[in-house]
Formats: sequence, C-alpha cells, structure tokens
Amino acid sequence: MENILFPQGFLWGAATAAFQVEGATDVDGRTDSIWDEFCRQPGKVVGGDCGEPAADHYRRFEQDVAMMADLGLKAYRFSIAWPRVRPDGGKVNQAGLDFYQRLIDSLLAHDIAPWPTLYHWDLPQKLEEAGGWANRDTAFRFADYAAATVEALGDRVGTWTTMNEPWCSAFLGYAGGIHAPGRTEPKAAVAAVHHLLLAHGLATDTIRAAQPDAKVGITLNMYPIIPVDPDNPADLDVARRLDGLQQRIFLDPLLRGEYPADIVEDLEPFGFSEHVHDGDLGVISAPLDMLGVNYYTEHYVSSTPNGEAGPSPWVGVQHASFPPRDAPTTDMGWEVRPDGLTTVLMRVHNDYPRLPLYITENGAAFRDDFSGNGAIDDVDRTGFIASHLRAAHAAIDAGVDLRGYFCWSLLDNFEWAEGYAKRFGIVHVDYDTQIRTPKMSARWYSRVARDNALVA
Ligand code: NOJ
Repeated sequence: MENILFPQGFLWGAATAAFQVEGATDVDGRTDSIWDEFCRQPGKVVGGDCGEPAADHYRRFEQDVAMMADLGLKAYRFSIAWPRVRPDGGKVNQAGLDFYQRLIDSLLAHDIAPWPTLYHWDLPQKLEEAGGWANRDTAFRFADYAAATVEALGDRVGTWTTMNEPWCSAFLGYAGGIHAPGRTEPKAAVAAVHHLLLAHGLATDTIRAAQPDAKVGITLNMYPIIPVDPDNPADLDVARRLDGLQQRIFLDPLLRGEYPADIVEDLEPFGFSEHVHDGDLGVISAPLDMLGVNYYTEHYVSSTPNGEAGPSPWVGVQHASFPPRDAPTTDMGWEVRPDGLTTVLMRVHNDYPRLPLYITENGAAFRDDFSGNGAIDDVDRTGFIASHLRAAHAAIDAGVDLRGYFCWSLLDNFEWAEGYAKRFGIVHVDYDTQIRTPKMSARWYSRVARDNALVA
C-alpha cells in the first residue's frame, strides 16, 4: 500500500462536547440544561447515568490540552455550555465565560486552534419550560447567548460553529423522545427544525456583526440513505422521505434558501409551514464559510415494518425499518461503512454550492480492554479511523474541498441516552480516578497528524 498524503495545511483535530465531558454541572453559576433534567427521569439514560462526573474536563482541561499538544493535534472542537454563559437562558454569567477564556487561552498557548460550537444540545431547562425549540422565541434567546459569547471570546476564535446536528435536537428530542427533552410530539419537532435553523441564521448575523473576520459554519449529521429494494416504489419513497428529513430539510434552506417542496408537503399535516415567516429563509441562508459533516454509518432502509410502532423520529413516515446487512458493527450496533463517507462528501460537493468542508466528527465506540501491560490496544477503533481517512482522501482525490478531520472523541465521555457504557475516546477515562490513558488509536492518530499522511 502506498502512503496517502493529505493536502498541505489539512487540519487534524479531536472533538468533545460540553455536557459529555465537563462535569461540574453545579458550579460557578451553571444551572440545569434539558439533559440534567432528562437524566433525572428514571429509564431515560442507560445506568441512570448523568452529567457527573463525565471526564471532569471543567477542572482538568489544562491536562487535556497538554495531552492534545503531546499528540500533535492542531485543533480542538469543543462546545460552549449555554447554561454556564446565560444560566436559565437569562443574564450573562461572567464565571461561566471565564472557564472558556481559560480553555481558549490554554489552547492558544499550545498552538491548538479553538473550534467552539455554540449549541451541542444543552438548552437551558428554563427555556424548555417556556416551550423549548418548539417556541420561536428560543431562536432569539440563542442569538443573545451567541452575542455575549462572541463578544467575550471572539478575539481569539477564528471559526465558530453555531449548531451541532440539529436533526438530533429536533427529531430525537421532540418526536422520538430518545434525547432530551424527551417529547414525543411530531408537531413540536417540525417547529423545532425551523426554529433551530432560524437560531443558526440569527446567530450567524450576530457573529458577523461582532467579528467581521470570523468564519461561521454549522455541523450536520449525514448518512447515505440506501433503499433495500431500489425497484420497490415503497422502499424508494421511504428513502426519499428519510433523506428529506435527515438531510435536505437542513441543507436546502441553509444553502439554497428554500425548504424542499416534497418534504414541506409531507410535513403539512404537522403544521410545518405556519412556522416559516416572511424573511426567515433569507436569515437562514446567510452565506456559510464552511460546513461540518459528522459521519458514522449508512442507513439501509426498507418500507416493511419491523416490530411495533412507537414514537419515531421519522415524522410522517408510516413504515420504516433498518434491516441489518452483512458488515461488522461497532458497540453502538452501527455498521462500519467507510465508503459512505466518500458518498456524503461527494453528495454535498455535487448538489450544493461549493464550500469548504470539514469532517467535524467521525469515530467509533468499541469495548476496550486493558491488556496485561496496562495498555489499550484498540485495534478496531484504529482500523475504523484509518478506513474512514482513506474514504475521506478518496473524496479529496475526486475534487472535494475537504480541509480537516476531527475524530470523535478525544476522551471517553457521556454518550447521551447510552450513558458512560459506550466509549468513543481515543483516550481512555477511568471515571473513578479520572486517570487518562491514551489508547493505541491515539498514538496512531498522532502519527497521522504529524505526518499529514497515512503511512503504509
Ligand atoms: C454525534 C454527536 O454530536 C455526539 O455528541 C455523539 O457523542 C456522537 N455522535 C456519537 O454518537
């Protein structure tokens, strides 16, 4: 096998998110987010796990930043906790901002670019009590939070990401009930889609007004959607709808200034259009400087129902099932499908205006065992990242303007409804002692970052 070289200046990083790693949920003025509240509800999170202790990153960030520097990483994608910066969605809390000042200062001192995301799912609980993302006002509260944050931190941040995976916030949170706030109201979910996008657009304006040289982007989770039987119109229709709900309902307004007509029609019974006011699409389609793509697997979809129908994130889709194919799976049960990464990158490149792309998340949960000598030889995770980097490189070869890769995740962390049992880190965290142990994947990834290449 030949060496695979990445373009000069390709950005090598790792990612985390506030609620998943910080811990310290009740210090320095932070108040509850929807996830703190959701974790308290019995049966919602595996093991009854919650945002404590997580990886105690709030107190141990210096050590974590030094470790990233040792690994030769050039960028750190983290998220800022809205309930620290504006507890309850209200007044600005300087102590909350101070944490991110310290984190960013430490990153810059180590020559690591800070890549903050403003919203990685931790809506202040008080705002949920006022309707959450189903309430249009939340978008304006988000812009206020963005303004305070950018004013405090903007002089040291080059690229802002407004939202992480709004699909999850809207559909898992408000229709499927699998994520906080755990609502199973399809009408609220479609309202949330529009309000999340509006929040992105309003915040983009706010960021640009405060920091004209800032780069601004958004991160979406993307999957190739593959019908089981491409000759079966019912399978094709389910694939179309899933692609619409998962991808086009976000990409089209952001990059074309319009919602996809077929999906608007599908969502009319849920009152989608009534949320879209004159002028909103102009706000939402403010030009982006980059698009973040999170990629984990493909969706292979059939119109044949499987099991009992319960609350579903797929609003308006009567029957959909995801039959397994013959492929290895991760500890999440997700098929390992590296070629799908090339497919999604090519799709954005071909279907939308050309803009710089970054893989803002890619990685895998696997069960890690300490071998006899105290090392974690996570061969599966290392192989997963390697195969996906080859797939990313194939897209670059085909002309895609891909500029960087962030592995998910720097640290083992709180995997939402799955709790701490699923480990995505390239660095192991012992939750009792908070001892960090870089896994084989971290050492291997460090080489890739330093060489800017996959060396055969
Ligand atoms: C995407 C999310 O952004 C992140 O928070 C999550 O942990 C990973 N996927 C893995 O499920």
